[in-house]
Amino acid sequence: MGYNISIYKKIYEEYSQKYVIARERAQMREAELHYKIPQIAEIDRQLSKVGLEIFSAALADKANYEERLAEIRHKNEELQAERARLLEAYRYPVDYTDVKYECAKCCDTGFVDTKMCSCMREALVLAGIENSGFASLIREQSFDNFSLDYYSKNPLNRERMRKNVEYLKAYAENFNDIGSPSILMFGGTGLGKTHLSSALAKKVIEKGNDVFYTGAIDLFSEFEFDRYKSKGRDGAALIDRYFDCDLLIIDDLGTEIINQFSVSTLYNLINDRLSRKKATVISTNLSKDEIQKKYTDRIWSRLFGEYHILFFVGTDVREQKLLKK
Ligand SMILES: Nc1ncnc2c1ncn2[C@@H]1O[C@H](COP(=O)(O)OP(=O)(O)O)[C@@H](O)[C@H]1O
Ligand SMILES: [Mg+2]
Ligand SMILES: [Zn+2]
Repeated sequence: MGYNISIYKKIYEEYSQKYVIARERAQMREAELHYKIPQIAEIDRQLSKVGLEIFSAALADKANYEERLAEIRHKNEELQAERARLLEAYRYPVDYTDVKYECAKCCDTGFVDTKMCSCMREALVLAGIENSGFASLIREQSFDNFSLDYYSKNPLNRERMRKNVEYLKAYAENFNDIGSPSILMFGGTGLGKTHLSSALAKKVIEKGNDVFYTGAIDLFSEFEFDRYKSKGRDGAALIDRYFDCDLLIIDDLGTEIINQFSVSTLYNLINDRLSRKKATVISTNLSKDEIQKKYTDRIWSRLFGEYHILFFVGTDVREQKLLKK
């Protein structure tokens, strides 16, 4: 899942059009205005000459330059004031012909200086999520519709789950693309691991970060594919996103086929992200012992030494919901 080259190209094109469209729309409003109010057309014609007037004043008469400049300025102000009066009289907003960008930060170019604007990052991530099928989860599963009532049978369970939610909310709130800790979610099926991952992803995306969500099965098959395919010109990027995104969510670790390749892939990925202080959220139905047995001590010590661990407890919420129906 996530944005691939074609999604990036699509968004990039949308942005180059957005910028042009915003300017064209302003020009259309101006044309409309000039047609309806010819006095404004005349004023705009005069205003457009101001630069040239200043320039020729500077060339023509050095002695009286300051005086002439003040005159031009004064005339300019009067024209502006008259223009505003006319707009008001005809009930147009005063900024009617200004270019109106969706994003004031980047003027719809998608970039501020050379850095990608958060609006474009968000558009990219949302487009990527849209493409992955995770979008439906993100739309359905939020902190708001996560209920602690499903854990109420046992007050200790409820309290633990309340703390998990509290932790994840604060985590999302304070998320930093460098330095936020990684998280390991433990617990049986239907206890809300994926639900809270979606809720977390949504918040982190909303803050303008690149979030990639992947099931463990898909992740390893993509690495496997990458390993065997001949490296073409545009082939390099496929697995890069697992390393480079701001928050990587690996769901259902342990459902994939575990072999030497998958174990070393996982180790490299975990290790690389830890060393670059990039956060990863892993959820699993496996127990601590199973993880240690299946994934070697190296991985085990990384996960248990450096991830923040959340235990999910209670009884299968999916089942509880079915029983209530
Ligand atoms: N506390 C909760 N409140 C509301 N719905 C929940 C809660 N926990 C889980 N669900 C719902 O139950 C189903 C299973 O939850 P899920 O997050 O997929 O479990 P897990 O990933 O732990 O197996 C999903 O449809 C999810 O939205
Ligand atoms: Mg799940
Ligand atoms: Zn922007």
